[in-house]
Amino acid sequence: MLILIDDADLTKIEELYAKYPYDGVTTNPTILSKTGNPDPMDQLKKIRKVIPEDAMLHAQVLSVETDDMVREAKHMVSVLGENTYVKIPAVGNGLKAISILAKEGINVTATAIYGVMPAFMAAKAGAKFLAPYVNRLDNLGYDGVQIAKDIHTIVKAAGYEAEVLGASFKNSQQVLEMGKFGIGSVTVNPDTLSTLAFNGVAENAVKDFICDFEKCCGQGKTMLDFE
Ligand code: G3P
Repeated sequence: MLILIDDADLTKIEELYAKYPYDGVTTNPTILSKTGNPDPMDQLKKIRKVIPEDAMLHAQVLSVETDDMVREAKHMVSVLGENTYVKIPAVGNGLKAISILAKEGINVTATAIYGVMPAFMAAKAGAKFLAPYVNRLDNLGYDGVQIAKDIHTIVKAAGYEAEVLGASFKNSQQVLEMGKFGIGSVTVNPDTLSTLAFNGVAENAVKDFICDFEKCCGQGKTMLDFE
């Protein structure tokens, strides 16, 4: 399962990459605005520089008319380069834009997915990724995990290339549910990623091992000190 970082903060991205090689970064206009950088392309270029060349960078268009979305998407790819996935909301004119861009070979992530049908249509239009908003769906009284699973099932049954990119998680359990169902990718905010990958109880257990070893064998000793 691909795991992407859903944040645009350079420090957080670098800290997470220092601990584990993730598969890329996703952003949206709100996430970019939280960095305080009034030049979003500058922020995206900086992100591009701190993640590996083969990592994906997902960034969203702001336009709402089809032609404008297409123009904006092409501009973003020309500035940000390979491995850019342009996020197009699967609402309004988005589906038409996805269809045009996919035919021209631009990688598209259909975003702001709040139901199975828009996801299905975005997959049919040629999107590479489909981003259902799991936790936001839960907050609306729907079952976000189930909707992500249904999208995965219907898209695979139809034979479309698109993969679900589960998004909007508030806890590790929601993320793991994606994995259990064979969903191909998730994008997770740094706080939830920390709880997914790192565990204070396990870290304390390791500290205890070291402490016990040092009591017997000497401060700072490791197996390297013994033949
Ligand atoms: O990338 C967009 C999506 O993950 C939204 O997440 O936390 O704002 O619901 P959130």
